[in-house]
Amino acid sequence: MKKILILLLTAIFAISLLFMGVGCKEKVSGEVEVFSWWTAGGEAEGLQAMIDIFNEKYPDVEFINATVAGGAGVEAKPVLISRLTGDDPPDSFQVHAGHELIDTWGVGDYLEPVNFIFEEEGWYDVYPEDMISILSKGDDILSVPVNIHRSNVLWYNKAVFEENGIEVPTTFDEFFAAADVLKAAGITPLAMGEAWTATHLFENVLLGVVGADDYVGLMDGSVKWDSDGVKEAIQTYVDILDYVNADNSALGWDEAAQYVIDGTAAMTVMGDWAEGYFKSKGLTPDVEFGYVPSPGTSGIFMALSDTFCLPKGAPNRDAAIAWLKICGSKEGQDAFNPIKGSIPSRTDADISLYDVYLKSAIDDFGSNIITPSIQHGAAVSETWLVAIGDVITLLLADKDVDAAAAALQAAADENL
Ligand code: GAL
Repeated sequence: MKKILILLLTAIFAISLLFMGVGCKEKVSGEVEVFSWWTAGGEAEGLQAMIDIFNEKYPDVEFINATVAGGAGVEAKPVLISRLTGDDPPDSFQVHAGHELIDTWGVGDYLEPVNFIFEEEGWYDVYPEDMISILSKGDDILSVPVNIHRSNVLWYNKAVFEENGIEVPTTFDEFFAAADVLKAAGITPLAMGEAWTATHLFENVLLGVVGADDYVGLMDGSVKWDSDGVKEAIQTYVDILDYVNADNSALGWDEAAQYVIDGTAAMTVMGDWAEGYFKSKGLTPDVEFGYVPSPGTSGIFMALSDTFCLPKGAPNRDAAIAWLKICGSKEGQDAFNPIKGSIPSRTDADISLYDVYLKSAIDDFGSNIITPSIQHGAAVSETWLVAIGDVITLLLADKDVDAAAAALQAAADENL
């Protein structure tokens, strides 16, 4: 009897050792290539914070930080498309939740569902259903979120506003009044960068003029892009362009943000990765720089989410899964987001780690109307976004409001 008991205990011990071995993280080895476009101040450091966690947990894996510079992924996305269609996927890559994820990669057979990771890690309890739904094609969850960003923020240099005795604008009338004072003082009112940042500004002006309901209606076809409301938004946008730096097309979003730091420009409309940039340059929110919702968008939170996915045929699937588990974890998100300038996509983050701006963003996300960003993959497919971007590029040159409205409607007709 005693012998049988000892045998039984030995067997149980051996089996548990085996399971520990299988689940043991140190077993993961080789290289893991993670593809993103995070190279600017703030975003690069935020990514590094997650890589540091990975390196500590998986010392046997060589982490390949495969970045392609260019804000909003304008340079990275074409590279990614050629790699995936050429059967050469990285182990994991950055992709926006929503239409960019589902309509680009979900329609093909490119991604492995990650439901099993959600189950293993208990993530169904800590991710809101709305979040899971914008990651899913049918029942398949296709990516792991790391954050939520807000796109409708007007960032400003506090000293410039104080020195010129002007209030921070929350409406378009206030914006134009402040911009006139700034322009007369020889300061660029609004810093803007390359083409995609022009579309970013446009989505903000559109939302500010037509409001949340009509903005959402434009995405589902219930509101027309050549309606009077959209034409008013386009006209407002064209008027704003008079107050933008002339060298915009040559600048990245971070270089435009740098103008605000330097005080050569007073404001920039950018997603809150700009907060990460300002902080990476040693600035403190509410001290050197301030923030308000872009004109006309108080009470609205224009949202997007960065995620990482598991491509089919990932060369090192085990290591990719290990990476994704960090991306979606509380530890990973609380290391990444306070530096990145984004808020966690989980419901259980340690709020004490987030600064005054990010705390306000967390509050606003909980109480505001949420609308999806066009430029950052949430609201429209990649092909629709490219068509909208082309219209905006033309508009920057010809300022033809009616032609832009017609072209935007044509783009909607093609893509809806
Ligand atoms: C966005 C992305 C952000 C930030 C930004 C600038 O598309 O969601 O995380 O990286 O581009 O590069």
